Amino acid sequence: MGPLTLPAGALCVLVGAPGSGKSTFAARYPDTWRVCLDSYRRMATDVEADQSATPVAAEIQNLLLDARLSRGLTAVVDSTNVFPHVRAGLLARARYWQRPVTAVLFDLPLPTVEAQNADRDRDRVVPLHIVREHHQLLPDADQLHHEGFDAVHPISELLATGTPPLPRSTCMP
Ligand code: GTP
Ligand code: MG
Repeated sequence: MGPLTLPAGALCVLVGAPGSGKSTFAARYPDTWRVCLDSYRRMATDVEADQSATPVAAEIQNLLLDARLSRGLTAVVDSTNVFPHVRAGLLARARYWQRPVTAVLFDLPLPTVEAQNADRDRDRVVPLHIVREHHQLLPDADQLHHEGFDAVHPISELLATGTPPLPRSTCMP
């Protein structure tokens, strides 16, 4: 099975704690489809975790989203998106361009996410308290529908239906 098939021109929003596998999932799509705050923070500062660069990274992300959505091109947002106001901004952007919005919800149990995070290269491991805080903020599928997502795909269901082994994580090399 290939990646989840997205409606043409859709905005696909990944929602998950650090270490839950978002970038690994996103790597199944063409790199031009992927927008990733970590990458833009790294391009701005050499350090992808440097939160001081989040405003500039968000500006780059939004420019790219407008460029793609206005042309009817699919975009996959590879960031945590656990805060409702962040999702609201993305939903508003998709609605402005009249594009369908899909969420992929990384609803894995906390121990699984902690283990995946701990297994990463040392410089990619996110502090445990941040992983836990983000995991606690995860919405459920009903909430995402309620917010306005046209389709919601829990990753637990995608994995249960036989997704192939995943490559190692790449954000946007
Ligand atoms: P952040 O960018 O920090 O928010 O994390 P992320 O959600 O993008 O996670 P990422 O894709 O970087 O995956 C974290 C670790 O989990 C990596 O070492 C992946 O190789 C591993 N991983 C991702 N998906 C799976 C999976 O389905 N199964 C297993 N066993 N490992 C996975
Ligand atoms: Mg990532």
